This record gives sequence, C-alpha cells and structure tokens, in this order.
Amino acid sequence: MAVMDNIGGLPIRMRARGVPAHVACGWCRVFQGCPDQAPQARRFVRYLLAGSPLASVAEAVTGELVSNAILHTRSGLPGGLFVVNLARGRHVAVVSVVDQGGPADPALAAAAAAARDTVEAGRGLITVAALAARWGWYGTYASRTVRAAITAAAREPGTITDWKD
Ligand SMILES: Nc1ncnc2c1ncn2[C@@H]1O[C@H](COP(=O)(O)OP(=O)(O)O)[C@@H](O)[C@H]1O
Ligand SMILES: [Mg+2]
Repeated sequence: MAVMDNIGGLPIRMRARGVPAHVACGWCRVFQGCPDQAPQARRFVRYLLAGSPLASVAEAVTGELVSNAILHTRSGLPGGLFVVNLARGRHVAVVSVVDQGGPADPALAAAAAAARDTVEAGRGLITVAALAARWGWYGTYASRTVRAAITAAAREPGTITDWKD
C-alpha cells in the first residue's frame, strides 16, 4: 500500500494495511503524544463512526491503543506524536494507531498473569483482543502500528487473534 506522506517520521498511509478493498472511507489525524490527547482521539473515532453500531467498541479500542502509544512508546516523550487511522466500511471499522516506536513490542499479558486477574495494568491489549475481530501490529523500533478490525459479527468469547500479515 502506498505511503502517502510522513509527519514527524510517522508514515501516513492512503489506506491502512490489511483494510479490506470494499472499505469505503478512511481518515487519519495526527495527535500530540500527551495524555490529554487520548480523549480527543476517542472523540475523533466516535464522530467519524456516528450512527454506526461499531462506534462504541471502536472508541474503546482506540482509547486502549492510544494510551499504549503514549505510555509505552517514544510518542509519549516531549514533542512526540501519534497518528490515528480509521477506515470505515459497511460492516467493519479498522482503527490503526501509529507510534514513534521504542524498544518494546506490543504483547498480551502472559496467560498466567491474566488469569490471576489481580493487577490493574496489563489488560489493555487483552481487552482489544476480546473486542476486535482481528488485531495485530507491525513495525520496528522506529515506528509501530497497532490495529484492530471491529465488526458486528459475533465472536466466540475469549478468542484471541494475532493479525500480522
Ligand atoms: N504500541 C506499543 N508499542 C510498544 N509496546 C507496547 C505497545 N502497546 C503495548 N505495548 C507493550 O505491551 C504491554 C501490554 O499492553 P497492555 O495490555 O495495554 O497493558 P498495559 O498498557 O497496562 O501495560 C505493555 O506493557 C507494553 O510493554
Ligand atoms: Mg495499555
């Protein structure tokens, strides 16, 4: 997929990788990597999905992905940026958050820790995995994109997918 532009070193794509060809519209917006931008990013997605049954789940997923970009990547450093891409089709919404990378890779909490269920932290991506039809990430130390496809289709509870292609 062609890279359209580059803002602060973040690749901005014409169409998020892996978005189905029938997807009708796409938007992207750059945010500063400050905690007060998380509600703005959620609002951005909620507004663009107004009237869609996918809106509330997409908003919740956006909140988790954005919070991770700010907390766990160089997007959260002074002057840092992240990008939210939203692709909307008739039956699917794909949220992609592009960050400025760093040493860690996104990872689901270890099953044992998740099962203990005693800590507040470490549940964001588990929640994303539970809400999304597919989710995954790609990228490197320089920039990663974490994305999730939200559909109205019912899912088996607890199904976790890993979307890398
Ligand atoms: N965009 C990201 N880039 C790098 N690492 C990430 C990113 N998102 C999540 N992670 C890593 O995956 C872990 C799990 O994320 P998450 O389930 O949201 O839990 P939490 O944010 O509470 O630690 C994080 O602790 C972090 O190490
Ligand atoms: Mg998190």
